[in-house]
Amino acid sequence: MIQKLALIGGNPVRTKPFPSWPIHNKTEEKSLLRTLRSGDWGRLQGKEVSRFENHFATAHGCAHGVAVVNGTVSLRIGLLAAGIEAEDEVIVPPYTFLSTATAVIECNAVPVFADIDLHTFNLDPTAVEAAITPRTKAIIPVHFAGQPADMRSIMAIAKKHNLFVVEDAAHAHGASYENRPAGSIGDIGSFSFQSSKNMTAGEGGIITTNNENLAESCRSIQSCGRIPGGPWYEHHVISGNYRLGEFQGAILSCQLARLEEQTSRRDRNGQYLAAKLSQLPGIYPQKRPSDCTRHSYHLFMLRIEAATFGISRNRVVEALCAEGIPCSAGYAYSLPQQPLFKNKAFGPYVPRARSRLNFAKAHCPNSDLLCQEQCLWLGQNLFLGSRKDMDDIARAFEKIYNQRNSLNSRTSANP
Ligand SMILES: Cc1ncc(COP(=O)(O)O)c(C=O)c1O
Repeated sequence: MIQKLALIGGNPVRTKPFPSWPIHNKTEEKSLLRTLRSGDWGRLQGKEVSRFENHFATAHGCAHGVAVVNGTVSLRIGLLAAGIEAEDEVIVPPYTFLSTATAVIECNAVPVFADIDLHTFNLDPTAVEAAITPRTKAIIPVHFAGQPADMRSIMAIAKKHNLFVVEDAAHAHGASYENRPAGSIGDIGSFSFQSSKNMTAGEGGIITTNNENLAESCRSIQSCGRIPGGPWYEHHVISGNYRLGEFQGAILSCQLARLEEQTSRRDRNGQYLAAKLSQLPGIYPQKRPSDCTRHSYHLFMLRIEAATFGISRNRVVEALCAEGIPCSAGYAYSLPQQPLFKNKAFGPYVPRARSRLNFAKAHCPNSDLLCQEQCLWLGQNLFLGSRKDMDDIARAFEKIYNQRNSLNSRTSANP
């Protein structure tokens, strides 16, 4: 039987909502009330944040965790602790959230974009090696969508050129690479707890490391440059107040207790869906190398080749949403194409480097292709459901593919 697409008036594949996010229950309520009643609302008085730091770091294979206000500041603090100085260069991917690159600018350093691999959507080590100059001091691989970057190659490049590695693990809570937790492989790991992330307290971030000196530097920078045990009004390095509050610490401990089970579920569902969708012509889910031992599926990403699938990516997004499958096209631009970078609108930062920077000419064709034409994202909460939910997503894709001609014969406002 021919099923008319919901976009043109047919019945949607699904009307039932997917699991909502964030997830919370009595444990969050109890912890919040306990914190409220204690009167110890700041980390300097209470124990919630420090307890959470220890548990999160241990769960991610690290001896130290330093909680901060978000996953942007955690990247910047990591770079400052690494000793990044004015106009040093830091290699970053172009296909990532703004902060990966602006954290570099806010250290008065220069982000240098190296393209991603078209199949894994993560930093391409060959492009990283090609981007190295005598000014390069660090690399920030992003474990995009929750799939660890090629850390074996990146760490080898870092060792060869004496570079510092900050893993941007904002999407990768609970993910692992060759059975090592994301955030424990480079010199420093950086996580976000912003509302959409796989663990959240509305906002928040954490730095993870196994290096005691780096941990000490990060701890100092997150609290106005103080040193442990030092006088309150004694400040040693340039920094600010980036301390996480106790209410957020209390919530995050509850979220962490669910992470293991939720990550396994997302990974199981994500792999199942990827296997189903790869059978469709022109659909290429994020390629999973064998070194990815756990994908946290903050996002399920895939490429659509319109010439083979028969419909443009933007039209597929519209059609899927109409079928009851929430999704998006993700980033509209690679970072170097963002007005901020094209116009070098960096405020007081990197004044001397500006004349030699031309981000408009950055060569990142894989990232550009994903942004402009091919990439589609499904959010992590969809993967907290059942196998039947995955079957619904797959059915919606199949329906759209089978009925592709009914869309192509119509004009679209969003081709
Ligand atoms: C890859 C990546 N890095 C860093 C961040 C910054 O985290 P936050 O929003 O907590 O500042 C995000 C947030 O969306 C992100 O996706």
